[in-house]
Amino acid sequence: MRVLVTGSQGRIGRYVQAQLEEAGHSVVGFDVTAGDDIRNPAAVRAAAQGCDGIIHMAAMLADPKDDPNDVMHVNLQGLWHILTTAEALDIRRIVTFSSVNAMGIFIGESVPDFFPIDESHPCRPGRPYALSKYLGEEMCRLFTRRTAIATVCLRPPWVIHPDGYATVRQRWAANPEMEWTPIWEYGAFCDVRDIAAASVLGLTCPDPGHVRLLLCADDVMTSGPTSRELVAQIHPEVEWRGGVEYERDPFRALVDTSHAKAVLGWQPRYRWDMSS
Ligand SMILES: NC(=O)c1ccc[n+]([C@@H]2O[C@H](COP(=O)([O-])OP(=O)(O)OC[C@H]3O[C@@H](n4cnc5c(N)ncnc54)[C@H](O)[C@@H]3O)[C@@H](O)[C@H]2O)c1
Repeated sequence: MRVLVTGSQGRIGRYVQAQLEEAGHSVVGFDVTAGDDIRNPAAVRAAAQGCDGIIHMAAMLADPKDDPNDVMHVNLQGLWHILTTAEALDIRRIVTFSSVNAMGIFIGESVPDFFPIDESHPCRPGRPYALSKYLGEEMCRLFTRRTAIATVCLRPPWVIHPDGYATVRQRWAANPEMEWTPIWEYGAFCDVRDIAAASVLGLTCPDPGHVRLLLCADDVMTSGPTSRELVAQIHPEVEWRGGVEYERDPFRALVDTSHAKAVLGWQPRYRWDMSS
């Protein structure tokens, strides 16, 4: 396939580009650092000519220093330009990066209604970045309904790079409170290599229509306590819906990725307990 990759110079984009090329696809990179602005519809249209699929990552992230108007402009109008370009050029598959933040229960926005978290969890984002990701998913849902162009919305948690595991362990060793202070993100993380693999599979899996898929490593990021011990210690008030699977694997992730595994045929390869 010939694939338009937006945000191709980013921390995730570089891995996505490399995995696409390894799999034999050709990549058209698109990034503002190379002069291509997602806010310019003509530039998006020109870059997408001849492409069979799009992986859309260009975005402004959850940096409190960013102007919320810019976050909305880049994240929502940028996605709109991707969707309208796909329709105009009859590109039938879009993989777009949403975030766990679409649910409004990460970055300290609110406490989950239940553990483990899955796609049935209600969404209540309030901050600009989180809201832009949720509204982007809704835009995709309605776009797919009208056009039948598939939109695969990926919801990664914190994406960790190969050198990130040691950095986290060093920080926790220096200050153990950092594991849950100021915010405990439910031990959720995913290796950038697994995230890139999920996005490539999103291009080629059987037509899923519109889907929103939580991505996460199979185990929790922890200094030692099991998943249930962490929940009991930090959020004892939250309803527990887990079953015997947490007896079989006490460090099992608190984000359920069975939907992504089924739709994409995806299996994360990197675990926290492999990194010590
Ligand atoms: N890193 C994470 O932990 C994480 C978690 C969940 C979701 N995501 C999502 O994954 C995607 C990629 O994130 P990342 O970690 O690689 O971020 P990043 O900031 O490293 O990469 C984003 C890329 O988008 C480009 N970009 C920004 N504005 C642009 C514009 N106007 N036009 C064209 N390109 C523009 C940037 O130059 C950058 O290269 C984003 O959509 C992000 O919201 C990331």
